[in-house]
Amino acid sequence: MGKSIGILTSGGDAPGMNAALRAVVRYGIYSSNKVFGIERGYEGLVDDVIFEMDRRSVSDILHRGGTILKTARLPEFLQPEVQRKAAENLKNRGIDGLVVIGGDGSFRGARELSENFGINTIGIPGTIDNDLAYTDYTLGFDSAVNTVLWAINNLRDTMTSHDRVCIIEVMGRRCGDIAIYSALSGGAEGIIIPEEPQDFDKLCGQLKANYDKGKTSNIIILAEGVCHAEELKAVIKEKIGLTVRTSVLGHIQRGGSPSNMDRVLAALFGKKAVDLINEGKTNRVVGIRHNAIIDMDINEALSIKSKFNEDLYETARILSL
Ligand code: ADP
Ligand code: F6P
Repeated sequence: MGKSIGILTSGGDAPGMNAALRAVVRYGIYSSNKVFGIERGYEGLVDDVIFEMDRRSVSDILHRGGTILKTARLPEFLQPEVQRKAAENLKNRGIDGLVVIGGDGSFRGARELSENFGINTIGIPGTIDNDLAYTDYTLGFDSAVNTVLWAINNLRDTMTSHDRVCIIEVMGRRCGDIAIYSALSGGAEGIIIPEEPQDFDKLCGQLKANYDKGKTSNIIILAEGVCHAEELKAVIKEKIGLTVRTSVLGHIQRGGSPSNMDRVLAALFGKKAVDLINEGKTNRVVGIRHNAIIDMDINEALSIKSKFNEDLYETARILSL
């Protein structure tokens, strides 16, 4: 007997969300279900903006960044009466299961719907920050890092020509993964992340030593959660007097066509989410660990503490000396 599956995207958008939507719609219909799109995350769920999707409604979106379902942040969704309204809308339409694509905040909303209102919810990790510790990768992270890498390559050309230091500010309020991965693959000489106590004296000492041994151009990747690029620029200028330029990449990192890796993850996460709903599972999230697709209880997943990859961080540092 087929089920009715709802799907929404919530929180910050990420490349690969559309690819995951396509996977849920097409695999959902293939496995005898109906699939309903919900606009603007929890906002559309509460306002009952829900419509049936067919295979053709997800044509031509695989390669697109953003989310055709749109996304939103709805602070009121923390209130139980607002959650109740959302659950009633799903029940009135006979929707048996809900797939939520988003980050940890969106997962908390899904957990409330499952534990307090009996909705079968399954989460797909979608955020460029890669800040969900239960999964090795979230959807959108690889694409965002590739965008940063493109920027590093371009900035390297001009900075080397002028013997300048460049600070590139990347996204990541509490998680330095975008900074660490892009610094390693882009050969940056400095990485500043929120997880590490920052020693700007040490950074300046390293830049000066690099300069003295003939490395006159240096790239520093700074995660936004630590400070602004202009603040760090002022410190470097004051301490060692090198010429510094800054580049704040901002939301450019959140858009763009998803990478091969994000499209593959989207397909596998979407399929797994539908399988779990077909099995009547609830309050679970999907992810990837050691190259295998997994699912986990949402509370267990949210309780795993984030650890930054010290090995990558250290390797990037050593290779750029
Ligand atoms: P992300 O999912 O990317 O972490 P947010 O933290 O902004 O993004 O969360 C997205 C939305 O999820 C919020 O605007 C809110 O509607 C919902 N949400 C967040 N935290 C909770 C919570 N503790 N309980 C219920 N809903 C929540
Ligand atoms: O999606 C996560 C994130 O990209 C953070 O890295 C960033 O700080 C934040 O969202 C910015 O989101 P917005 O501009 O949508 O508030």
